[in-house]
Amino acid sequence: MNIQTDYLILGSGIAGLTVAIKLAQQFPDRKVLVVTKSNEAESNTKYAQGGIAVVMDGVTDNFEKHINDTLVCGDGLCDRDVVEMVIKEGPKRLAELIQWGTQFDLNAKGNLDLAKEGGHSNHRVVHFKDQTGLEIERAILVKAHQGKNIEILDFHFAIDLMMCANVCQGVYVLDEKSNEKITIHSRFTILATGGIGQVYQQTTNPKIATGDGIAMAIRAKAKISDMEFIQFHPTALYAPNSLSTFLISEAVRGFGGQLKTKNGHRFMFDYDVRGELASRDIVSRSIETELKNSGEACVYLDCTQLDLVEFKKHFPTIYENCLLEGIDVAKDWIPVIPTQHYLCGGIVVNRHGQTSVDNLLACGECSRTGLHGANRLASNSLLEALVYAHQIFKFLSESDSEIKSVTTKIQYNFKRKMKPITIEWVSILKEKLQSIMQQNAGIVRNDTDLKNTLRQLQLWKNQCQKIEQEHLVSKDFLELKNCIEVSIPIVVFSLKRTQNKGSFFKEGKTINLQF
Ligand code: FAD
Ligand code: SIN
Repeated sequence: MNIQTDYLILGSGIAGLTVAIKLAQQFPDRKVLVVTKSNEAESNTKYAQGGIAVVMDGVTDNFEKHINDTLVCGDGLCDRDVVEMVIKEGPKRLAELIQWGTQFDLNAKGNLDLAKEGGHSNHRVVHFKDQTGLEIERAILVKAHQGKNIEILDFHFAIDLMMCANVCQGVYVLDEKSNEKITIHSRFTILATGGIGQVYQQTTNPKIATGDGIAMAIRAKAKISDMEFIQFHPTALYAPNSLSTFLISEAVRGFGGQLKTKNGHRFMFDYDVRGELASRDIVSRSIETELKNSGEACVYLDCTQLDLVEFKKHFPTIYENCLLEGIDVAKDWIPVIPTQHYLCGGIVVNRHGQTSVDNLLACGECSRTGLHGANRLASNSLLEALVYAHQIFKFLSESDSEIKSVTTKIQYNFKRKMKPITIEWVSILKEKLQSIMQQNAGIVRNDTDLKNTLRQLQLWKNQCQKIEQEHLVSKDFLELKNCIEVSIPIVVFSLKRTQNKGSFFKEGKTINLQF
């Protein structure tokens, strides 16, 4: 099957849907097609808890303070112009989200209730209980469905970009339900495919976070960068028997939650004067050090001294999830461990969201804008996605007619291949990948293990290429292939980096390497 569209957006999280809504409103006679794997709401966005960092209190806060916090957290590697642009755009983009029907918590005076998170010098995180992402995703899906010229193709998996020299002309897609392959030709393609959490054994990210957009961009020879900067969230619930990892929002520490060892020592002040509210890289590494020294499996977040009624009001999901695990927050300390959470790097884009490939743009977690540097400041991700979605919209609105549009029709040769790949083969290799990345590309890395990991990843990549030629590919296989594809630059960039910065920490001697 062949489809033609004006704008093709891959992904239905905050980044993808925001671009879609804006383009559809601006160009009612043009077709906006959103392709998304899984159901339309499934995304990292849906699970966001803490909120969006925006300067809304003009009395105690200002842009300079937020800019400075972002630069400090990024450890000298942020692009200052980008930081200024994103933070100053924040209030306008938030107002739009509210206008589209998103609810945020209000304080007793009827103003937006502002929370505080790690690395922030002020209360400035706008939120909806501990379900900010769920509320945003709800509101933007409602808004997107109101657009008569927006179509959302759910359960459609983008396999690869359709390239003609350095021009992106659309995408090859797998219809997950019929297993039919589709070619979609588009004037412009926007990657909004989110993060890479599933590369790791322990991640806060849902199953969809398999780095597909970044892997596609790599195969299309787009420039990627900063892949070594993987953010580990300090406080995921430690529940070894649970199938998924549940986040205990940083806002809980902002609310007064205290990190303690099993013996009750409040250890964070041994590492940083900001205590529990130091930036994430510092808190995660401190916990890792405590665990290494004590041999314990987790540390604890003590909320027993907090007002339970207020706690339940602010964090109903966290309260309920803890109860399901047998933890009564009023009486018990919450066992927590650091867990992979966010990719600071990704596909390199300029201020307009343009990648190094013509007619290919990117926004959200899959992109690398220069905002985060070596470490993302809490709640700056949803903000970045909103601002860059708008930048892309503005760019396409203003310069659309000057840009070469697609005329060539490319047919992809989807060969009929006989043997399906067994589910067991895919799941065993995925477990091995997650285990080696967790071990060797985690909070603390070293060159010897990274080098061995790279060798193994290259073998697996070759194996996948061979299998792909001989078998009928499935979505699970394609996701695994993408996880391997994005793991390689995580390791290569880690090997290349000689200086520890932000979320990146390597111990021991650096081996001199040629790539
Ligand atoms: P996503 O929301 O992940 O959307 C990606 C979309 O692409 C999905 O629809 C997915 O199905 C689709 N997709 C992927 N691959 C393909 C493919 N091959 N074909 C078709 N579709 C595809 N950030 C904050 O700023 N504040 C917070 O409070 C916060 N809390 C968080 C809590 C958790 C538990 C997690 C996991 C993240 C949190 N983050 C937070 C980070 C933030 O939620 C994400 O970075 C952000 O939502 C990413 O948005 P996105 O639109 O780029 O990607
Ligand atoms: C959280 O609620 O702790 C997550 C915030 C973020 O990832 O920015």
